[in-house]
Amino acid sequence: MSSDDLNDKPWSGRFDEPTDKFVEKFTASIGFDHRLYPYDIEGSRAHALTLAKSGIITDAECKLIINGLNEILQDIERDKLTWSVALEDIHMNIEARLIERIGETGKKLHTGRSRNDQVATDMRLYLRAEIDLVLQEIRRLQLALLRLAEQEAETIMPGFTHLQVAQPVTFGHHMMAWFEMLDRDYDRISQCRKRVNVMPLGSAALAGTSYTLDRSFTARLLGFERPSNNSLDAVSDRDFIIEFCSAAALVLMHLSRFSEELVLWTSAQFDFIDLPDRFCTGSSIMPQKKNPDVPELVRGKTGRTLGNFIALFTIMKSQPLAYNKDNQEDKEPLFDSVDTVKDALRAFADMLSAVKVKRDNMLAAAKKGFATATDLADYLVRRGVPFRDAHEIVGKAVKSAIEANKDLEELELTQLQALSTKIEGDVYNVLELQGSVGSRNLLGGTAPAQVNHQIAAARKRLGIK
Ligand code: ARG
Repeated sequence: MSSDDLNDKPWSGRFDEPTDKFVEKFTASIGFDHRLYPYDIEGSRAHALTLAKSGIITDAECKLIINGLNEILQDIERDKLTWSVALEDIHMNIEARLIERIGETGKKLHTGRSRNDQVATDMRLYLRAEIDLVLQEIRRLQLALLRLAEQEAETIMPGFTHLQVAQPVTFGHHMMAWFEMLDRDYDRISQCRKRVNVMPLGSAALAGTSYTLDRSFTARLLGFERPSNNSLDAVSDRDFIIEFCSAAALVLMHLSRFSEELVLWTSAQFDFIDLPDRFCTGSSIMPQKKNPDVPELVRGKTGRTLGNFIALFTIMKSQPLAYNKDNQEDKEPLFDSVDTVKDALRAFADMLSAVKVKRDNMLAAAKKGFATATDLADYLVRRGVPFRDAHEIVGKAVKSAIEANKDLEELELTQLQALSTKIEGDVYNVLELQGSVGSRNLLGGTAPAQVNHQIAAARKRLGIK
């Protein structure tokens, strides 16, 4: 192998034969890790500055390296650079280009550094940037939910348990339930960001380096909160990735539940909402069809995010310290989870901003299924009937209503009074849906007044007017 061949391995010194072509492909990560290029270059620039600060390279050499890296960045962005599988990964590809471009000085960049601390740094820089985008998308979806909740604070719909009509709730309250889930997701991912924001550089291969590098300086340059405490841990830790993927799977799990409701609600049987046409597709054979593809796909994509989490967790299980090549397998699952969670959140925020709420249909559905039965029981309790007896009485009332094919409020007063002498004419107030939701007027309850309170508190939390 000639030493000026760009594709020569930087580590070929101790080898007697070239790498098997299949093994070369099998072990390469450039096919997917090339997306780390902005972070690899950013990390290298900071490392060069750190080397110069300690006098390990001169300022002129540092400048040459940084200019060379900037030119490479431009080339990549203009699609002028082709990746080499023989150079295995993004780190060696960029380093080889640098040497090709600026000559001997380029060979000094890797002083006091290993691909092990380099890749760990790249992954942290990448994930930190992506987390900021994910957090933005969560907030955008929360805002769409807030607006919808505000608009529909008084809209009545049936609330379900076991997917059976349970008690009436307001649609605004239902939207705010999704808001809360996303708020927890936001918190979780923000907390994960703190653990992402720690800098491995200076850990080198595993033991640290004999060069005196000012690691706090490098950390500051890269916006990290602090340098890592232990080199062995820093080069092999992927907890931050596992943690993010777990949080991303939770986001998708939440969205899958939401999706399921949207799918149900758009069906002819529920007909609670209409999704904008631009978020649906038709059928090639059934002309009447309008399918809720976006929520279905989001529901389906939950699987891959959970799969990515499990894959990452399993990759790390039982790995001895420190770096092992297993960890190259961290990239595709992480990239996929990042892409999936961002896309799903975006689709939901856009879709919900244009959803049409069919208030009359929801109201009609809430009237079916004896949603105010609990209110009748509570009415009896307020008149001194023990709750268990009240439950029994109302059960009988529901039975007669079913037999007469009527709603509870359609039963004659005499019929109701036959079940309990405590029942008077004012009973119809509690059998009515508005009265029922309005009475759940305590913190966290479904009354419109409480929904508005939740919305105001949420706006304050998010810092929006
Ligand atoms: N491509 C490798 C990875 O993604 C970079 C680190 C390689 N380190 C090594 N000692 N082989 O993990």
